[in-house]
Amino acid sequence: MKIAVLPGDGIGTEIIAEAVKVLKALDLKFEMETAPVGGAAYEAAGHPLPESTLKLAKEADAILFGAVGDWKYDKLERALRPEQAILGLRKHLGLFANFRPAICYEQLTHASSLKPELVSGLDILIVRELTGDIYFGQPRGKRTATDGAFPGAEEAFDTMRYTRPEIERIAHVAFQAARKRNKKVTSVDKANVLETFQFWKDIVTEVGQQYPDVKLDHMYVDNAAMQLVKAPKSFDVIVTGNMFGDILSDEASMLTGSIGMLPSASLNSKNQGLYEPSHGSAPDIAGQGVANPLATILSAAMMLRFSLNQEAAAQRIEAAVQKVLAQGLRTPDIHSAGTTKVGTAQMGDAVVKA
Ligand code: NAI
Ligand code: MG
Repeated sequence: MKIAVLPGDGIGTEIIAEAVKVLKALDLKFEMETAPVGGAAYEAAGHPLPESTLKLAKEADAILFGAVGDWKYDKLERALRPEQAILGLRKHLGLFANFRPAICYEQLTHASSLKPELVSGLDILIVRELTGDIYFGQPRGKRTATDGAFPGAEEAFDTMRYTRPEIERIAHVAFQAARKRNKKVTSVDKANVLETFQFWKDIVTEVGQQYPDVKLDHMYVDNAAMQLVKAPKSFDVIVTGNMFGDILSDEASMLTGSIGMLPSASLNSKNQGLYEPSHGSAPDIAGQGVANPLATILSAAMMLRFSLNQEAAAQRIEAAVQKVLAQGLRTPDIHSAGTTKVGTAQMGDAVVKA
């Protein structure tokens, strides 16, 4: 089992250290190799995703990724910015299916930004398409407007696009995931306004006919944003495009108490995967030893489950995380009265012990 470990920038190095600690505590044999990515790689090799890092990622069975980015790179041309590393990995490895479970652990019901009764027992899964949509669509760029309200003015533009096979494959992933859960898929679109998402809605409906045991409904993204805070437990699996999924999954993270709790898996058609917390490099708290490592540790559990075929080990990690929460240990992002405030490394140590 070969794991490419890519810590990246900011809190990336701190949280990855804890996830590696937890993996090493399992009685399993891994080959782990670390490589620079993002701003760290730009500093070391002049590129956010150097050839050697990409090669390691391609050869590995799974990639454990921290986070990339820092405000100090905001002035760099887009192709050299740290964030291009994660976009490049998704594209080069064809990691089109992003799984973001939003689970509200019983012990964190009160850390949620919603009333406890709305989130108690919450367990939803957002399936986000990850390699298409407006994030990758060409053409894009800057030009002079020839029509619209201000012809002759400087303008910027991006292109929202999806091909039929891209929509079909992510729809299958969502229906198959729902089959293993509560058999309900909500497809989120903006079909009332966007051609791309009318196409999306039609194709998801077609694919859904192959899954008569799964209930499918459709929701406009603005309504979905509202329902997520009004009645989040009414969802089971949400499937949506790259941009809507990006936004809705950050919204969903708040229901669980903290973005520091949310793991993610990004898979290709060979079940090779990249595993990372849903959050970014958090430059505002980097280097202070206070970042919550649980999203990354839970991402390592997803890695064991999906890419390394180690379900029992995945469950051991998830149970250990619940145990440390039950013990009352909290990093500052989820800390509240009556619990014990701990740092990043202490939290990792506690999970190892549990
Ligand atoms: P962010 O997710 O890094 O931080 C948002 C807020 O959540 C901050 O206040 C931060 O302190 C807090 N936070 C995040 N993770 C936390 C954790 N584990 N424990 C405790 N608090 C945590 O998003 P932001 O600030 O918008 O972006 C910062 C940088 O990260 C940017 O350069 C951005 O492009 C990059 N980014 C990278 C991603 C990736 O590598 N996949 C994903 C999202 C953002
Ligand atoms: Mg995001």
